Amino acid sequence: MNPIAEELNEIIIKANPHVYEMLSVVGKQLFFPKGILSQSAEAKEKAYKFNATIGMASEKGRTMYFPSIMENITGLTPEEALTYAPSFGIMPLRKAWQDSMFDKNPSLQGKEISLPVVTNAITHGLCVVSDVWVDPDDVIILPDKMWGNYNMIFSVRRAARVVNYPLFDEQGGFNVEGLKKTVESEAKNKEKVIVLLNFPNNPTGYTPSSKEAEDIARVLINVARAGTNVLAITDDAYFGLFFDDNASRESIFTRLLGQDPRLLAIKLDGATKENFVWGLRVGFITYGAAFGSDTKKAYEALEKKTAGSVRGTISNASHLSQELVLKSMQSKNYEAEKQEKFEVLKNRAKEVHRVLANPAYKQAWEPYPFNSGYFMCLKLKTVEAEPLRVHLLNKYGVGLIALGKTDLRVAFSSLAKADVQELFDIVLQGVRDLEGS
Ligand SMILES: Cc1ncc(COP(=O)(O)O)c(C=O)c1O
Repeated sequence: MNPIAEELNEIIIKANPHVYEMLSVVGKQLFFPKGILSQSAEAKEKAYKFNATIGMASEKGRTMYFPSIMENITGLTPEEALTYAPSFGIMPLRKAWQDSMFDKNPSLQGKEISLPVVTNAITHGLCVVSDVWVDPDDVIILPDKMWGNYNMIFSVRRAARVVNYPLFDEQGGFNVEGLKKTVESEAKNKEKVIVLLNFPNNPTGYTPSSKEAEDIARVLINVARAGTNVLAITDDAYFGLFFDDNASRESIFTRLLGQDPRLLAIKLDGATKENFVWGLRVGFITYGAAFGSDTKKAYEALEKKTAGSVRGTISNASHLSQELVLKSMQSKNYEAEKQEKFEVLKNRAKEVHRVLANPAYKQAWEPYPFNSGYFMCLKLKTVEAEPLRVHLLNKYGVGLIALGKTDLRVAFSSLAKADVQELFDIVLQGVRDLEGS
């Protein structure tokens, strides 16, 4: 094993041996190389005469560029837009995002978390987490209604075993009992269980209430206390888009971190969905652990392993994207812009609720509970989802997503409020067409 990896491992073991136990085989070996990157960082500070260390090009002391590129990027220098970012992400953005996490989650106050490591958005963040923390045959516990790409990331690429529990209970609330049964049953045979919590949920648009969130956290804390290592990953992609009072306003990460030495919380979030910059690909990985007195050093060790994985996959996330997100977050208009777009989505969600209250739809479907995010989902009663999807597309030019036999996902995030009524009327017509055929 590389001596730098050994050094990081020792720091982690000293701070909390259970966190070390949870690292994957790859994760134990990961480190952040001192080679070219650190030599170049050192040269940046001290090489006042010539700095010929890094594989970028310069001219007259400035970053080399094509005018045809820079004329399309106003407000940023070539140094900000075109040069490599560190594998950890640019420091001002990491700090700004961490500060914003404290603002958005007041219960974090007084708690210690790592600095976020920047990833090529959340999909890549999940991949990095899988690199660092997941081994083949590890169990990942997820609800039955989940983002399909988790299968690609964890089952296909990593050969981990995804185990599902029903997301909703009979009363239409979060199925705490189902989660508990599944986690406890897997914990019997495993030294580590991995639980992935995604709220607001894709595809249903559900976020648990504060009471449910507390109950979920309690389940995981109790399993950790009983002696199983628990890795709790929160995918907060749609964070902040909470439209009803019953949706818990803070990430469940806040209820998990530091609660037991055997419980490690990993928060994945990003600017992609939250700040409506999907293609800029900026996401973050943040750790919340119960470390003893060496907290800062231990978090740095985890950040280094994580950045090592970034280094070995994409090297670094787009500097241009990171600067754009940072500049937007620093803008005096940022909060107002965020609020304005939130209101737009909230009004659409309210309109969906209003329209769906019409009893005429009752025979055709039941909507799954939703209170947040970009999506809502219909459970069809009389026809199958895929033939309906194809029919709606071919006959009415309406595109929705079919999931399994019964579920049809509607992204109201991309639907004008004025079109909501017509959309559901067309879906009902589509159902009737198929019932009659
Ligand atoms: C639950 C969930 N997580 C992550 C992602 C991917 O996000 P990103 O674009 O930041 O990779 C999506 C996107 O559809 C999602 O629905």
